[in-house]
Amino acid sequence: MTPGMKRGLMIFAIGGVLLAMVGVVGWLQPQAPQSRAPQPTAVKGETVPIGGAFTLIDQDGRTVTDQTYRGKWLVVFFGFTHCPDVCPTALNDMSLVLDALGPRGEALQPLFITVDPERDTAEFLRDFTAAFHPRIVGLTGTPAQIEEAAKAYRVYYKKVPQGESYTMDHSAITYVIGPDGRFVTHFSHQTGVEKMTAKLRELLP
Ligand code: NI
Repeated sequence: MTPGMKRGLMIFAIGGVLLAMVGVVGWLQPQAPQSRAPQPTAVKGETVPIGGAFTLIDQDGRTVTDQTYRGKWLVVFFGFTHCPDVCPTALNDMSLVLDALGPRGEALQPLFITVDPERDTAEFLRDFTAAFHPRIVGLTGTPAQIEEAAKAYRVYYKKVPQGESYTMDHSAITYVIGPDGRFVTHFSHQTGVEKMTAKLRELLP
């Protein structure tokens, strides 16, 4: 073995030890604690965030936009007052969540956006939401405004003829939007009052 080869081997060995140390140190480093702050991300796999701009009419006939609710935590769901089952259940669940949250729930603004503006006028919505909880606000608008809001939230809805009348097919996802207007999380129709309450307790100030 020449002195040159020896030196080369030594450098190689020292390099290996250093690499191993870096590995151990890296491994010993505690995992960064999971941030509880709302993550400004879309649903996994989505590239365009959920939520965003809308202009609608609230149940008192006032024009509102997404900006109207900045600073509030929003719980947004789409539906229609003639819904036989899913929407009343969602509103009932939401009223139970609000009661369970107590004063902390005041940071929260639940919005029920109709996908049936033809029948769901502001007055009609006001009576409907009031039957569930005084804090739930119903929003309607022109068909174009509803379409824009539904598009922003990736909500599917479709008019389906039913006898001489019609019903609405619609997705039943509840979105949680942070005070900065960014999507935070969502609940499915199956999430249930307990889980929703627990998650919101985690998020709300
Ligand atoms: Ni419904």
